[in-house]
Amino acid sequence: MRAAKRIEKLPPYLFAEIDRKVAEARARGADIISFGVGDPDLPSPPHVVEALADAAADPATHRYPSYTGMLAFRDSIASWYERRFGVGLDPSEEIQPLVGSKEGIFHLPVAFVDPGDVALIPDPGYPVYETGTILSHGEPVLLPLTPENGFVPDLDAIPRETLERARVLWLNYPSNPTAACVDVDFFQRAVDFCRAHDLLLAHDAAYTEITFDEYVAPSALQAEGAMECVVEFHSLSKTYNMTGWRIGWVAGAPVAVEALKRLKTNIDSGIFDAVQRAGIAAIEGPQDHLRSSIETYRRRRDLLCDGLKSMGVVVEPPRGSIYVWVPVPDGHTSESFTELLLNEAAIVVAPGNGYGPSGQGFVRFSLTLADDRLEEGVERLRKVVT
Ligand SMILES: Cc1ncc(COP(=O)(O)O)c(C=O)c1O
Repeated sequence: MRAAKRIEKLPPYLFAEIDRKVAEARARGADIISFGVGDPDLPSPPHVVEALADAAADPATHRYPSYTGMLAFRDSIASWYERRFGVGLDPSEEIQPLVGSKEGIFHLPVAFVDPGDVALIPDPGYPVYETGTILSHGEPVLLPLTPENGFVPDLDAIPRETLERARVLWLNYPSNPTAACVDVDFFQRAVDFCRAHDLLLAHDAAYTEITFDEYVAPSALQAEGAMECVVEFHSLSKTYNMTGWRIGWVAGAPVAVEALKRLKTNIDSGIFDAVQRAGIAAIEGPQDHLRSSIETYRRRRDLLCDGLKSMGVVVEPPRGSIYVWVPVPDGHTSESFTELLLNEAAIVVAPGNGYGPSGQGFVRFSLTLADDRLEEGVERLRKVVT
């Protein structure tokens, strides 16, 4: 027996590969310090956990949830969009809860990309934009993000023939893995471009709430004309340290939200109602937990960037996300430096080229590890780098 050919076309998921190498190193007795996966080490807010426990004790939550998500959850997302971005959304037609944003990101091409259609994808970028496109028999066309272009795609450089076949433009700011941030003017240019070329702009906004130094990340839906051509993916995962809970949403252009909704009724059966009630508690409850997470990441970012600087590796401290994107020393590739760190310092980082060919020459450090481990990691790094 063999698996379908489409499975053969899929690269192994980057972190499955990293996990395997880490397990091997641990089995050899290594004390691994992991800057690998971007999975918050901080706990979910206690009032959210309590809301889940209360809701889980209520048998009304035990049946199949609704496909479209609880109206109360969609209402609280709409109110949050209004408060946070000044964007008005209709909870019935313009918001669809997701089983984590990864689910919706993967399914968007199934709903929107026909075989042979092009999806424009940031390179480096979150791998699911590309794998979702490949499994929908679409053609991923990579848009290089480099230090020279400020990690922002040069939309005017996309060839006309490519644009004619393109259906979707993916963006993600604050960005994983580059940690680059943009302002609303950039989104306005992207929206104007998408309207001119009849493209759907799919913005992955997973990290908009984790920002530093007074920077406030915009929503792509703030741009004029966005409701015609933008969908934005959001998630409670990183904002509230809820990666294990699997809850997010897509919001924006009704035509795309409707297409995803229709697809999803055939795939999953919604999010556990108790988790949605907890999601409401996260969005509407006290935000001091978020402020404290941001402060923790800021401190760790500075520890890492200052440490790197003292080794002669100068990295501009990022204004958002939970990552630092670091160029590898001369003479190294992303892979050779990742291997060196693992073998010589028992440090795990994500090789930049795992996020696309333009990530070659970089590694990604995630800030989701305790300060003392991070500090020790910096000292181990110093021994390898200097
Ligand atoms: C850029 C980006 N988008 C989406 C996700 C998926 O988040 P979730 O499915 O937990 O909402 C991640 C997770 O790491 C991410 O980095």
